[in-house]
Amino acid sequence: MNLVKDNPTAISEIVNLFDFERLAAEKMTKMAYEYVASGAADEFTLRWNRQAFNAIKLNPTILTDVSQIDAGISLLGLDLPYPILIAPTAYHKIMHPEGELATVRGAGAASALYVVSSFSTTPLEEIVKAATQPLWFQLYVRDDRELTKALIQQAEGLGFRALCVTVDTPVAGVRNRQDKARFALPEGVNTPHMPGGLAEKKPFTWKDIEWIRSFAKIPVLLKGILNPADAEKAVEAGASGIIVSNHGGRNLDTVPATIEALPRIVEKVNKKIPILMDGGIRRGTDVLKALALGATAVLVGKPICFGLACGGAEGVTKVLDILRHELEVAMILTGKATIAEIDESVIWK
Ligand code: LAC
Repeated sequence: MNLVKDNPTAISEIVNLFDFERLAAEKMTKMAYEYVASGAADEFTLRWNRQAFNAIKLNPTILTDVSQIDAGISLLGLDLPYPILIAPTAYHKIMHPEGELATVRGAGAASALYVVSSFSTTPLEEIVKAATQPLWFQLYVRDDRELTKALIQQAEGLGFRALCVTVDTPVAGVRNRQDKARFALPEGVNTPHMPGGLAEKKPFTWKDIEWIRSFAKIPVLLKGILNPADAEKAVEAGASGIIVSNHGGRNLDTVPATIEALPRIVEKVNKKIPILMDGGIRRGTDVLKALALGATAVLVGKPICFGLACGGAEGVTKVLDILRHELEVAMILTGKATIAEIDESVIWK
């Protein structure tokens, strides 16, 4: 009997991350699904994030000793068992009633690092209490800099291990699909750390990065870099890391896929600080390709939201377990026993 259906109706039938999206489309409200799944404008960048990965071919090496695989990495003082993080995404309570509490429990069961969004619909204290793995905090800088400073210090006080400052969103992109779905937070769902939403007027510039660094006690990463010149400035500004990201295709349509932008940024940064990337990761082979092209780790956003919607904490864990397993299979089949061995030799040129 074939238990694997093309359109799974339960989490137990799911075998890959695309299945999660199909099941989530059935389970989520239309508004929540559209919020998560959509990109900006005509969604060219959203599609390119996937197409660019598919266009990269792999070059396997045979007969190396891959009897013991170790996907572990060190990242800004943390030892992680595999190089896949939970990207910051907003409003988890519109995806599942347990919201971010389910996400953090799912992350814990999968031994994954979770980057909690400023737009969390659960207070940070509660997330921290439920955490069994390290957490990072994603920061939106507010017009009210005192509020911003207080939020950073609150996150530090709660034990968050790094800040990911989003630098690509002075305004949200043109979100046609979201608008058509009339996106709005339902009654009773709110963002305790971002009262008032995104609408900001005061300029947010490199000076503010300097300001944050002047008092932040934890590493500051800049999230949302695509331009190699900006990556160079990030190093000069003392960033502890860069997240190459096009905001999941949600902000400026027709910017390149992140996997296309990554090599130029890697070249400019020249190993001075770790480079992470997100955007379009759905397969273990995608993770392998990102590492081969110079990323230290990757983050996944939309698949985590779909996992959360399908099965709460269990769904989040299953998304990560599948991706980790696929990465390990890809390592074995390309002849790489450790992450350090993954280099451009796995890319077919
Ligand atoms: C978004 C913002 C909240 O992408 O980061 O919807």
